[in-house]
Amino acid sequence: MGESVIPLVDQRVASSVPRIPQLLAAPDGLLADTLGRPLHDLRISVTDRCNFRCSYCMPKEVFDKTYQFLPQPSLLSFEEITRLARLFVPHGVHKLRLTGGEPLLRKGLETLIAMLAELRTPAGNPLDITLTTNGSLLERKAAALKSAGLKRVTVSLDALDDGIFRAMNDVDFPVSDVLRGIEAAQRAGLAPIKINMVVKRGTNDHEIVPLARHVRERFGTGVVLRFIEFMDVGATNGWRMDAVLPSADVVQRLGEAFPLEPMDATAPGETAQRWRYVDGGGEIGVISSVTQAFCRDCNRARLSTEGKLFLCLFASRGHDLRALLRGDASDAQISAVIGDIWGGRNDRYSELRSGQQADPGSGERRVEMHYIGG
Ligand code: GTP
Ligand code: 5AD
Ligand code: SF4
Ligand code: SF4
Repeated sequence: MGESVIPLVDQRVASSVPRIPQLLAAPDGLLADTLGRPLHDLRISVTDRCNFRCSYCMPKEVFDKTYQFLPQPSLLSFEEITRLARLFVPHGVHKLRLTGGEPLLRKGLETLIAMLAELRTPAGNPLDITLTTNGSLLERKAAALKSAGLKRVTVSLDALDDGIFRAMNDVDFPVSDVLRGIEAAQRAGLAPIKINMVVKRGTNDHEIVPLARHVRERFGTGVVLRFIEFMDVGATNGWRMDAVLPSADVVQRLGEAFPLEPMDATAPGETAQRWRYVDGGGEIGVISSVTQAFCRDCNRARLSTEGKLFLCLFASRGHDLRALLRGDASDAQISAVIGDIWGGRNDRYSELRSGQQADPGSGERRVEMHYIGG
């Protein structure tokens, strides 16, 4: 992994000339990283806590009562998050995705959304603001989130069968509450809604067709179900290749029940490959980070709850932007640092991972999913 902690923050901050380094320019003249990839999405983790304990993300044995989550003062405030987001926008960011942990556990999240909704791209357009949630609090919050300025929402849902769902979230949370949350999001006008199903072979792979059928029948074409390959994120989720069901198998199994045809990508760098039901029943997606890495166009930066900038989901270290925010750096200085960091990026973990057996990481412990937000 190419990134490192900002080595000489003081020197960078001392540079008084605002600049956006152009190590490589993307086609539109904006900043690009060392592999020519522009910056497009900023994923912002607003809490490292979650009320679920999905084994592929926060296994109970590790994230138990004694686990030390981040202390409140270390969290970026809404003002700090908004300031950073505003400084990312001129570098190319068009989409903000709020993540966690479970983002709806962060108190007053609607206030943050309203603040972010005020931001504009250089062309004067609002940003695409969305969030990825486990859906447990969505029924209660959907309308307020929409009023605050949230455009759309992505809900994690790993099974339709209540027993399997309760076992996968490992806190005995009922599937009916999440399904009602999705309905509430639909009623509130959050659109399009996406549902993320992490597929683990032998655990929930037999739920692929029932969940797809249910989404088609209950939610209609406005909801896109996406199947995600179980990924080797972090160091605690017990990942094994034999628990990964390749997306090609998902498409084959689903296609046997509901014939599918491929669709074009909507935007470069998106995570999902899109398919549509031949009968007009809507669209699905597959996210194949393990079997078909999509690093080549990866345009996502990640901001942790405590203000560290990560350049890859599989990174070990982040760049401490909070130190700049709390150290009185000017907007121009912080903007220059962001540009420098992205300009020096060369991360492509999944691509390297597919080419070899061994972990291509730095050898350091990788960041955990609940901390970086997926
Ligand atoms: P939209 O394209 O806006 O719908 O969202 P998204 O797919 O970028 O975000 P979402 O939070 O729904 O993530 C879907 C899945 O893709 C999750 O399992 C993420 O962890 C995973 N994912 C998102 N971005 C990346 C990435 O850059 N690399 C890898 N390997 N996985 C990613
Ligand atoms: N592999 C694949 N997806 C994962 N997610 C969490 N952990 C993993 C993993 N190990 C998903 C969540 C959520 C999204 C942000 O990431 O289910 O939908
Ligand atoms: Fe919580 Fe989402 Fe992780 Fe499950 S995947 S433990 S819902 S953050
Ligand atoms: Fe981007 Fe890293 Fe995911 Fe590759 S593995 S797509 S570089 S976040």
